[in-house]
Amino acid sequence: MKVFSSTAAFREARHGMACTLGFVPTMGYLHEGHLVLVRRAKAENGAVAVSIFVNPAQFGPKEDFARYPRDPERDLALLEKEKTDLVFMPDAGEMYPHGFVTWVDVAKVTERLEGSTRPGHFRGVATVVAKLFNIVEPNRAYFGEKDAQQVVVIKRMVADLNMSLEVVVVPTHREPDGLAMSSRNVYLNIEERQAALVLWKSLGLARQLWSGRERSAEILKQQMAALIRKEPLARIDYISVADPETLEELSEARHGALVSLAVYVGKTRLIDNITLLP
Ligand code: PAJ
Repeated sequence: MKVFSSTAAFREARHGMACTLGFVPTMGYLHEGHLVLVRRAKAENGAVAVSIFVNPAQFGPKEDFARYPRDPERDLALLEKEKTDLVFMPDAGEMYPHGFVTWVDVAKVTERLEGSTRPGHFRGVATVVAKLFNIVEPNRAYFGEKDAQQVVVIKRMVADLNMSLEVVVVPTHREPDGLAMSSRNVYLNIEERQAALVLWKSLGLARQLWSGRERSAEILKQQMAALIRKEPLARIDYISVADPETLEELSEARHGALVSLAVYVGKTRLIDNITLLP
């Protein structure tokens, strides 16, 4: 495994490779959810590259950039075990040098959901991912379904800017009790960890109502909200039933609709989602 912090050195190693390259962009503090992406990339390509960069541009001024969990040594040990070929770990100065002024702004699909609570978030995500794609030059890039809107934004950017790579989406990896794995789960104390299950339970309720032929998106959302309100440590940010491509809110739930939510558990903001299947 070769680890690089400089763009030039990474590029040199990348250009010496003849095989296909799968790429997993991350912000580090790796968990099993990230490693599932790495394994998939490894299985489908001749080599795999992982980036670790806590991207300041995607955090709002009141968000957790400074205290976002970091453990590069542990991350590298985990990636070594997965037989990762290349790791790119730039610092902020390497990615945003003095004079940096160019941004990638994906419109429309960034306006709602995460975008409405976190203005500027997806501008930071799209910009850093575009830069990483230009540096890494992957054949395929792997993203988790857990961040469903991020997937929509990246796919849109790749199509609109004619980027030459395939975006592969990997199902959400969960703890045995259903909680979606996230680097932010470390913020939860024991009571909050228990309370955090309410996201998965409310998605389960939506799925159950849908299977029982409930088609009103309003009723699905109301029932989910009622369940979440029973949990004193939880506070709803949003609950949505949306078109999976445009992310526009639906009045009638339908096959393929994206049911997503963001909930504060204590001070920690968690997100999760499911797709409604037949
Ligand atoms: P990060 O939160 O570190 O996530 C890196 C990748 O892992 C994302 O594609 C995310 O969707 C995926 N992932 C996280 N938890 C997962 C889980 N439980 N199951 C499956 N996949 C999961 O997302 C980011 O970083 C950043 O926004 C980034 C794309 C790196 C740009 O800075």
